[in-house]
Amino acid sequence: MRLEVNGTVHELAVADGKRLLDLLRDDLGLTGARFGCGHGICGACFVLVDGQPVAACTTGADEVAGKRIVTIEGLAQDGELHRVQRAFIDEDAMQCGACTSGMILSAVSLLARTPAPTEAQIRAALAPHLCRCGVYLRAIRAVQRAAATP
Ligand code: FES
Ligand code: FES
Repeated sequence: MRLEVNGTVHELAVADGKRLLDLLRDDLGLTGARFGCGHGICGACFVLVDGQPVAACTTGADEVAGKRIVTIEGLAQDGELHRVQRAFIDEDAMQCGACTSGMILSAVSLLARTPAPTEAQIRAALAPHLCRCGVYLRAIRAVQRAAATP
C-alpha cells in the first residue's frame, strides 16, 4: 500500500489486519504515538489522518491507504517546533508525557479548523485524551497560548 506520513510517501507491504499504530511504530519507527488502552478510549495513540485526529490503535492500516498521515514527529519544520508544541512547553503542560503527543495533535487539528477557539471548544477537542498526571488545565492554557501566537 501507499501512504504519506509526515510528507514522505511510503510503499509498504502490509499484513491483513495490521493496525495503523503498529505500522507507524514498528515499521516506520515513529514511536511518538503511544499504545495506551488499545481500544480507542485514552487518546495516547492519536495521529492526524487528512487533518482529523484518529485513534491509530483502532484504525486498520488498510483504511488509510492513500491518505495523509501526520504524527507528532512531523510537526516541527526546519528545526522549529510547531507553535502548539512550543506552547505546551511554555505552559509546562506535560508531566510523564504519555498523553502529550495525542493532545498536541488534536490541538493542531482544532486550530486548523477553528483559529480562535472558545474554552469549551478546546475542552471538547482535548476530551478524548485521558491524562493520569492531570495536566488538563495547563493543556487548555497551552492551546489558548498557541491560538494567540501568530
Ligand atoms: S491506545 Fe489508542 S486510544 Fe488508547
Ligand atoms: S502527562 Fe502523564 S498522562 Fe498526561
